Amino acid sequence: DEPRYPWRGLMVDPARHFIPVKDLEKFVDLMAYYKFNKLQIHLTDDQGWRLPVPGYPKLKSISSKRKESMRNGTPHEGMYTKQELKDLVEYCAARGIEVIPEIDVPGHNQALAAAYPEFFCFPNPDTKVKTDEGVTLHLICPHKPEVWEFYAAVFKELKDIFPSGIVHLGGDEAPLEKTWAQCPLSIRYREQKGMKDVHEELKEFIKKMSSMLAVHGKRIQLWYEKPWAKANIYSKGDAVFTWRMGQTPSTITETKKQGLSLIIAAGEHCYLDYPQIPGQNNRGWMPTTTLEQSYKLDPAFGKPEKEANHIIGVQGTVWGEHLPALDHILYRTYPRACAIAEAGWSPMNARSWENFRRKLADHRQFILKRFNYDMERTKENEPPFK
Ligand code: ACM
Repeated sequence: DEPRYPWRGLMVDPARHFIPVKDLEKFVDLMAYYKFNKLQIHLTDDQGWRLPVPGYPKLKSISSKRKESMRNGTPHEGMYTKQELKDLVEYCAARGIEVIPEIDVPGHNQALAAAYPEFFCFPNPDTKVKTDEGVTLHLICPHKPEVWEFYAAVFKELKDIFPSGIVHLGGDEAPLEKTWAQCPLSIRYREQKGMKDVHEELKEFIKKMSSMLAVHGKRIQLWYEKPWAKANIYSKGDAVFTWRMGQTPSTITETKKQGLSLIIAAGEHCYLDYPQIPGQNNRGWMPTTTLEQSYKLDPAFGKPEKEANHIIGVQGTVWGEHLPALDHILYRTYPRACAIAEAGWSPMNARSWENFRRKLADHRQFILKRFNYDMERTKENEPPFK
């Protein structure tokens, strides 16, 4: 018995709702049981910043707090300590799991903008940590020296805390046309350098961040965005994640040509915050992704070995906008994570939906015992197991 892929990950999102380390450890216990070996921790986003950085006290006093969540009127806050994160890393290592920190750049940074508006193209001192979901225009400005000083301090902390050789730099959903394209500093810089568009500037930005991390012996990973690929922003050998609904087959082909490694977090199978049963709360927009739909994931999407041998694994993403506590998180993560785990472990010819269903029946109680199955409190209207 050996795994089909070396990378079998889950991503958690304490930026949207803070997850205490004690709860993360419970999440990790189940991960280890199902032979996941990578935990990506999404530490920063518009809705919260959870990594303390020496010299930047406003990350805690401002960026880690918000007035409410999704119009519920209840304040929310949370910040890890350096020691807590080190403890998490140690706990995971003892269970064969590597922890990969994610610091999202250049976008998804409204929480940072609330504390340090001067890091942004159009500083607005009235910026507040975002309280609801959605993509924002808070992209850091690459032409401010204080931005680079800040990220040097961030990366030094990451080096101290996370032994992993990887830092995930996000790189998703960054509306450059409405930000850098109109920033006076960016415009002047592009003119001086003879750059034809913001993507050339972006390429330099990612290269600079990547070299700063290389000094600490770390490589970057990014969420794959087709316009970024078109502009040659990814470097040979980097690993990227396919995630956008419907784009994975073409992304497998494109990344092969570009010499990239690919991890499959395909939206139509791997987004574990989505409802898994028709009738379950879809927050008004999420596509229902049944257990069978998650199970249907073939990480190679049916492509032959020679076209798919740059795929290094699979990852489920548990985005946290609507998952305020561990119960909610586990409620949505399982049993679909079992399907993702099997997709990462077993070759297609050793898998069948009927066999999986039969095996899962034995796991039902085992999984349910690990969380407080309270539909009233989790505001779910259907059980996760049917
Ligand atoms: C993503 O779902 N924004 C990667």
